[in-house]
Amino acid sequence: MKKSIAILSFVALVVVAYSCRKTSSSTPNKTAYLDLPATPYNYFDSFFVSANKIATLGRVLFYDAHLSVNNTVSCGSCHKQSLAFADNVPFSVGYQGAVTKRNTPTVIDVRLKESFFWDGRETNISNLALRPVSNHVEMGIDDPNTLPQKLAALPYYAALFNDAYGDGQITTDRISNAIGQFMSAISSGQSRLDMYQAGNTSALTAQEIQGKFLFDTKYNCGSCHLGGGSFMTNGYSGGGGAVFLDIGLDNSYVDIGRGTITGMTTDKGTFNVPNLTNVALTAPYMHDGRYKTLNDVLDHYSHGIIKTPNLDPRLTDSTGHARQMNITDNDKQAIIAFLNTLTDFHVITDPKFSNPFKSN
Ligand code: HEC
Ligand code: HEC
Repeated sequence: MKKSIAILSFVALVVVAYSCRKTSSSTPNKTAYLDLPATPYNYFDSFFVSANKIATLGRVLFYDAHLSVNNTVSCGSCHKQSLAFADNVPFSVGYQGAVTKRNTPTVIDVRLKESFFWDGRETNISNLALRPVSNHVEMGIDDPNTLPQKLAALPYYAALFNDAYGDGQITTDRISNAIGQFMSAISSGQSRLDMYQAGNTSALTAQEIQGKFLFDTKYNCGSCHLGGGSFMTNGYSGGGGAVFLDIGLDNSYVDIGRGTITGMTTDKGTFNVPNLTNVALTAPYMHDGRYKTLNDVLDHYSHGIIKTPNLDPRLTDSTGHARQMNITDNDKQAIIAFLNTLTDFHVITDPKFSNPFKSN
């Protein structure tokens, strides 16, 4: 059943794409409020014109503060492009001035993850988008089913929905799907590490290459933060499913992480392994933003690991105590230099991912 729907929608997509190509007269969706090109950006493969139009709509929704109950906060308020779609505070401020319980993660490459949020409570990227909308700290719209009506009163959405879906009808499913498509388009792949992996051996300095070796081999960081290219987490597709781990931060858990979802004692204090793409831009670090710098993070692995009940075995020594990696200063500098090569300056400056609202 699902398969045939997928095939049907693929056929529909191709038909739409083909007809758009032939006529090439797309409805201009520039309005007084928005800085959008007359034709949609090429977010995905150029052939999938309709997917690009849905992502264009998703971009407007992502940056629209009308998605919060008092029109003050948009997704982009916390997921800031210049900060790799994260922000620079331990906890972010929501629509009523209250702060989130956890640190805001990046949404770059989020499409590659198998589960979302620090506790993995969502596994479907299209269902995900409405969660922040109804979240009481973040955006506060208790019933997302009221959102279509609210957006219908704004002058720019009829044309955008029409462009994206062939008619102007606004539904929660479409809103969610469009934001999901936009986020799926935000991908990294042009960092210096990516160039190096693609065969350009001069893309990294000797110190950075040494840092990569230390990360992958000596300190085994790569056994948890997997990934060949700039994408580094073990929550990625094909990686055998999402994994939640305890890295020995607290003696008694303040936030039980994955344990909140499963209720299992063995999941207490475990968290989704974060994506290290653009990590140099996403300070502060950890689920609660406790570390201000990468140096602080390395100090944790070097001599700060605590023997917590669910501490990952890779972080214990042969006697079962917390392992101290005793990372030398030189090694620390090299690892930090390596982590800096994961920054993709394209994704944080690309106009197609930027705020389309005119500031006046
Ligand atoms: C007030 C700040 C704030 C706003 C507004 C906000 N977010 Fe978030 N976002 C967060 C925080 C904090 C988390 C982590 C929550 C957790 O894991 O419990 C998060 C997590 C996410 C994740 C999961 C990333 C991952 O790696 O698992 C995605 C995707 C996301 N948000 C998308 C959105 C979208 C789409 C919107 C707008 C509809 C939005 N966010 C609005 C703060 C915010
Ligand atoms: C046993 C698995 C494991 C190992 C080994 C490991 N990490 Fe982590 N790392 C994690 C998990 C899980 C988190 C998130 C923990 C949390 O917030 O509770 C994390 C968080 C981080 C963060 C913060 C990312 C962010 O966005 O907040 C950085 C940076 C990092 N690790 C780098 C390293 C480095 C460098 C090494 C090697 C010296 C390493 N990790 C070894 C599992 C691991």
